Amino acid sequence: MRRRPSYLCFIALWALVASRHAEPAKASWRLHTESRWIVDKQGRRVKLACVNWASHLEPMVAEGLDKKPVDWISKQIASMGFNCVRLTWPLFMVTNNSLGSMSVAQSFRDLGLVDYIGGIRQNNPSLLDVSVLAAFRAVVTSLGDNNVMVILDNHISKPGWCCSNRDGNGFFGDQYFDPNLWIKGLTRMATMIRRIGNVVGMSLRNELRGPKENLRDWLRYMERGAEVVHSANPHVLVIASGLYYDTDLWFLGHIPMKVSFARKLVFELHWYASSSGTVWEDGNANELCKDATDKVMSKAGFILNQGMPLFVSEFGGELSGQNVNDDRYFNCFFGVAAKLDFDWALWTIVGSYYLRKGIVGMEETFGVLNKDFSGPRNASFLQRISALQAPFQGATSSSPTRRILFHPLTGLCIQRKREQEQLQLGACNESEAWTHTRHHTIRMRGTDLCMQADRLEKPVKLSTDCADHGSRWKTISESKMHFSSNIVGSNVTVCLDIDFSTKTVIASPCKCLREDATCNPASQWFELVNMTRST
Ligand SMILES: *[C@@H]1O[C@H](CO)[C@@H](O)[C@H](O)[C@H]1NC(C)=O
Ligand SMILES: *[C@@H]1O[C@H](CO)[C@@H](O)[C@H](O)[C@H]1NC(C)=O
Ligand SMILES: *[C@@H]1O[C@H](CO)[C@@H](O)[C@H](O)[C@H]1NC(C)=O
Ligand SMILES: *[C@@H]1O[C@H](CO)[C@@H](O)[C@H](O)[C@H]1NC(C)=O
Ligand SMILES: *[C@@H]1O[C@H](CO)[C@@H](O)[C@H](O)[C@H]1NC(C)=O
Repeated sequence: MRRRPSYLCFIALWALVASRHAEPAKASWRLHTESRWIVDKQGRRVKLACVNWASHLEPMVAEGLDKKPVDWISKQIASMGFNCVRLTWPLFMVTNNSLGSMSVAQSFRDLGLVDYIGGIRQNNPSLLDVSVLAAFRAVVTSLGDNNVMVILDNHISKPGWCCSNRDGNGFFGDQYFDPNLWIKGLTRMATMIRRIGNVVGMSLRNELRGPKENLRDWLRYMERGAEVVHSANPHVLVIASGLYYDTDLWFLGHIPMKVSFARKLVFELHWYASSSGTVWEDGNANELCKDATDKVMSKAGFILNQGMPLFVSEFGGELSGQNVNDDRYFNCFFGVAAKLDFDWALWTIVGSYYLRKGIVGMEETFGVLNKDFSGPRNASFLQRISALQAPFQGATSSSPTRRILFHPLTGLCIQRKREQEQLQLGACNESEAWTHTRHHTIRMRGTDLCMQADRLEKPVKLSTDCADHGSRWKTISESKMHFSSNIVGSNVTVCLDIDFSTKTVIASPCKCLREDATCNPASQWFELVNMTRST
């Protein structure tokens, strides 16, 4: 009872501050769903190409503010081609007044992290003495000023690193997860960001999990959570995590989530190297990619075919190129992500954390920015992911106008070499359109040219002799990403491959089609991707 007046006062103040600063919301920032797609007011597809930005750890402050000005980080995010941030927040920041109203400086002081205070004073002086909630809002606003949409993700209750089965934050009824308090917190957050136009979605709760997990409570509380968010803020997409650490939505095939509103509900999925129990370095990459994809499709991906939007709100791995497990998973993930063209959020922009699991200044090897937030950790990864940032398909046209040949390892696509009969890798938005015909020829659209395996380890040619068996390409191997043919006039089997020194498409002996766990087939992986978007 005693908390109520102070809460109202708190919100009123907040709304006042928010409305003074709020810019008129851009029309394009009002999103809804159209079958499996997320679209703007005009019905045009908006592909969420997000990066996660953590603000849910003990300090309750978005990471990196001691290292760079918030506006600088927002501009980096935008210049890297991300159109959106999934910004994480801890429930108690909005349900516990003494936490939410604590100043940023105080929050670091209480944690004994005084060393960060100087950095924040230097880089973000205006955020040091305001409340953590005001700093949170400033981050959201800064992203908006740079044209970046925001999805607010209730990541955990008690501020700290997430997630484990027994951390008390896993499921409704856990030590720190009182459903009623959660409903209250969602309502408050949804109310607070009402006037901030670039907040386009709210994710109800991250990675539900743990021994209490059950479908009955999932339905009961997620439906309630969705309703309160929608009634407090009808503009945002409402995003729901499945079971088992956000890897499992199997039940949606039989049991719909019932809500009173339409065209706002999105489901999320997390997909890391280990999500499907796969140890990528222990098996054949083709077989494991198929197994992992089959699992993901049967547990969650199937909803796309049922007309529900799927937001892969966390995926990622080490960006060093030194982790075999993560590298193989990425190769597979990139192929599937291009083919299915779902919305996504990479983990993470953060190069290091103030404090993670007791470690001060812990480096984030998955981070797009380097440890001191001064620039990209790996520029070639940014190049690669840029292919997934633009939509391949639009929301309206259902039959593909063309198909492109995507190379997951590089994020590039096959295009014709200028004025030549050869092929090379180049930007997907500038690639040729291909058709894979009934007769297994790969034909360049609008021409009578098709791909032909001319000589071993030599460039694949564009030929008009499409009847030759050197021009028949079948997908082999479990991954279905190897395109195999014979060398013209011989029985030598080859696969499409890349000569990296020239980026030329060549015909090479097929690599590690099955069983072999030691070799990496990724240079030979290509995905034929439907493209309905006109460029
Ligand atoms: C709010 O947070 C403070 C600081 O962590 C804590 O001491 C207090 O018990 C919390 N209050 C409630 C109602 O949870
Ligand atoms: C970036 O990633 C690529 C590919 O995984 C790797 O080969 C390279 O060494 C990485 N660069 C850095 C600086 O980590
Ligand atoms: C690509 O388009 C074809 C032809 O319309 C369709 O059969 C196929 O299911 C599409 N594939 C994907 C992954 O959307
Ligand atoms: C393709 O995308 C790049 C940047 O991503 C852009 O510079 C280029 O103009 C685009 N090309 C076309 C044909 O749209
Ligand atoms: C390819 O193999 C078939 C059957 O083994 C054989 O009849 C044919 O002569 C071979 N062709 C060439 C060009 O070697």
